[in-house]
Amino acid sequence: MLYAVVPAAGRGARMDAGLPKQYLQLGGRAVIEHALEPLLDYPELEQLVVVLAPDDQDFATLGVAGHPLLSTCVGGASRADSVLAGLNALDAADVDDWVLVHDAARPCLRPDDLDRLVRQARRSPDGGLLAVPARDTLKQSQEGHASSTLDRSTIWQAQTPQLFRLGLLRQALEQGDRMHITDEASAIELAGGRPRLVQGHGDNLKVTWLDDLPMAEASLRAQGR
Ligand code: C5P
Repeated sequence: MLYAVVPAAGRGARMDAGLPKQYLQLGGRAVIEHALEPLLDYPELEQLVVVLAPDDQDFATLGVAGHPLLSTCVGGASRADSVLAGLNALDAADVDDWVLVHDAARPCLRPDDLDRLVRQARRSPDGGLLAVPARDTLKQSQEGHASSTLDRSTIWQAQTPQLFRLGLLRQALEQGDRMHITDEASAIELAGGRPRLVQGHGDNLKVTWLDDLPMAEASLRAQGR
């Protein structure tokens, strides 16, 4: 069976917009509503848990909040703590069930990419993630100066959703250094796994800075959303 967890307990410290980035408006709806839409529309989804900050007062006001597949729980100090709380809030899930984890601040996920991820990652024992091959030449920085150039043919940029078996992901997060894990795949890698890279699209961006909003809006418009 297929479940989903959407961590949304971050406070958007880098954005400085006065509002966590998942609640900024994008084309008349909150960023998080766009992020949830393709997951809730996915035909095989059994349940989706949104993980919220303890003092969140915004989520309950959104139109999507009453969706029958949706429930909420309270997150933790780090993204990995929040995802772990979300996994523990999945009602009926079994260790062998699959769980999608998707950022609340990634509003432009294409339904086709989600479907390809689910189909391809479920064939891999260690699951998988959407990612895109690096386009730019990448530099190692030392005190503001380039010290070396990475071999970009081996570098991909990780996105979400990421898909793993519940038992494997929970164990990897429980045993990992949760203050420093920035995505679920890195926890699986540290536990010895090799998640499959499923090629997505560069416009599946995480809204991090205010000037990401016009780009996200253009991408949604191009998708007719
Ligand atoms: O900070 P970052 O952009 O990596 O956050 C990615 C996602 O993790 C966001 O959707 C954010 O709300 C969530 N998060 C969380 N709990 C935290 C920190 C971040 O759910 N303690």
